[in-house]
Amino acid sequence: MAMWGGRFAKETDSLVRRFTESISYDRRLYPHDIRGSQAHARMLARQGIIPAADAKAICAELDAIRKRIDAGKFEFREELEDIHMNIESALIAKLGPAGARVHTGRSRNDQVATDERLYLRAEADEIAALLRGLQTALVTLGAAHPDLILPGFTHLQHAQPVLFAHHLLAYVEMLDRDAGRLADCRRRLNVLPLGAGAIAGSTLPLDRESVAKELEFDGVMQNSMDAVADRDHLVEFLAALAVIAMHTSRLAEDLVLWCSQEFAFLELDDAFCTGSSLMPQKKNPDVAELTRGKTGRVYGHLVGLLTTLKGLPLTYNRDLQEDKEGLFDAIDTVKLILATLAPMMTGAKPNAARMAAMAADPALMATDLAEWLVCRGVPFRDAHHQVGHFVAACREQKVALDRAPLALMKKSLPLATAECRKLFDPKRSVAARDLTGGTAPVQVKKQLAAWRKKLAAKPA
Ligand code: ARG
Repeated sequence: MAMWGGRFAKETDSLVRRFTESISYDRRLYPHDIRGSQAHARMLARQGIIPAADAKAICAELDAIRKRIDAGKFEFREELEDIHMNIESALIAKLGPAGARVHTGRSRNDQVATDERLYLRAEADEIAALLRGLQTALVTLGAAHPDLILPGFTHLQHAQPVLFAHHLLAYVEMLDRDAGRLADCRRRLNVLPLGAGAIAGSTLPLDRESVAKELEFDGVMQNSMDAVADRDHLVEFLAALAVIAMHTSRLAEDLVLWCSQEFAFLELDDAFCTGSSLMPQKKNPDVAELTRGKTGRVYGHLVGLLTTLKGLPLTYNRDLQEDKEGLFDAIDTVKLILATLAPMMTGAKPNAARMAAMAADPALMATDLAEWLVCRGVPFRDAHHQVGHFVAACREQKVALDRAPLALMKKSLPLATAECRKLFDPKRSVAARDLTGGTAPVQVKKQLAAWRKKLAAKPA
C-alpha cells in the first residue's frame, strides 16, 4: 500500500521524503505526543466512539513506545515524516485495528498544535527555574560583598560610585521581568487545540473539555481555524527568550569589560574560562563572549518565525512545520546560557581593592557637590555650572578636586566651605543616596533580603 493511502498510486520520491521530513528534529515532542494521544483515546472510549478495550490497549502500548524511545530503542523512520506518524505507525504495527482507531476525530494539524503547547508549558517551567537560579547566584554574590563600591558608568565613562551589589541587583530585576513575560506567555498558551481536527472541528461527539482537563489545560480553544493556524504563542515565547538573551548578553558584556586588564574589577573561576592555543598567559572570558554571541541566533529565530508566518493564508500550511527547529534551538541556547552563567557568577571574585581605588576618584562625587549647593538654595542649573567651572579650574591647576584650596573652590562656588571636602568620599556618597531604588547600603541590604526571601519561596 502506498504510504499516503488509497489516493496515491506511487511511493513518495526519496528527495521529497528528505524535503518534507521533520522526524529528525520533532522527535523531541514524543512525551507530549504520547500524553496527548492517551488523553484523546480515553475520551474517545468515554464517548462511546471507540471500544474501551481498544483505548486501554492504545494507552498501554503508547506507554511501551515511550519507554522504548526513552531507552533509545525505538527506530525512527524518515519515510514516516514526523513524530506523530512514527508513533501511530508503531502503534498500528503492534495493535492492528485497535491502533488504527487512535487518529479518530483528530488531524496532525490539531495534534501538533497540542504537542507544541504541552512542550512549551514544560519548557516555560524549566526556564523559570533557571532564571531563578541565575537570580539566586547574583544575589548571593552581591550579599557576599554588601559594602563593596565601584564606579558606576554612563556612556562607559565613570559616573558615580555605586555598590557592587546594586549593580548585580539591576540584573536580578531584569531577570524577574523576564520570568514574568514567560509566565504570561505560558498562561495564554495553556488552552487546548485538540478537537479542531484539520480545520473545522469534527462530526463525532468529542468531549474537548474533558481532554483539556486531563492534560491540565485551562480551557479549550474557541475557534478551530485559529487552533490549527496560529503560532503566536511561539512568537511570544521566542520574544521572551530574545529579551532574556539580551539581558544576559549585557551582563556578559559587563563581565568581559570587568575581566579585562584595563578594568580588572573581577576574576572568573578558572573552570569558567579558557586559554589561548598560542598565548600562554591568556585567560579568556569565553562563556561571557559566547553568551553575547549566541544572542544573535536567538533574535534570528524570532525574526525567522515571524517571517514564516506573515504571508500564510488561513489555516494550516506546511510552512508551519518550519516553526520548530528555530524554537528548539532558541530554547536550548537560552537554557544553556542560564545554566552556565549561574555557577560562573557564584564563583566570580570581585577585586575589591581595584574597585575601591577607582571609586575613590573625587570627580565621581561632583554631583554630590552640586546637590550640596542645592541644599543651600542654589538653583540646580547654577550649581551644575559652578561645579563644572570648578572641575575645569582643577584640571587647569592640575589639582584633584578634594585637594583644591578653599580659595580656588570659592572662585567657582561662592558658598563653598571646608565642609565641601568631606563630600569627596565614596562611602559617604553612596550612603547619602538613601531613597527607594538608591544605592545606599541600607537600601541595597533591604533589597538583597527581599530578593533572598522571594527566591527562596516556592514559585507560584
Ligand atoms: N509535521 C507537521 C508539522 O509540524 C505536522 C502536521 C502535518 N499536517 C499536514 N497536514 N501535513 O507541521
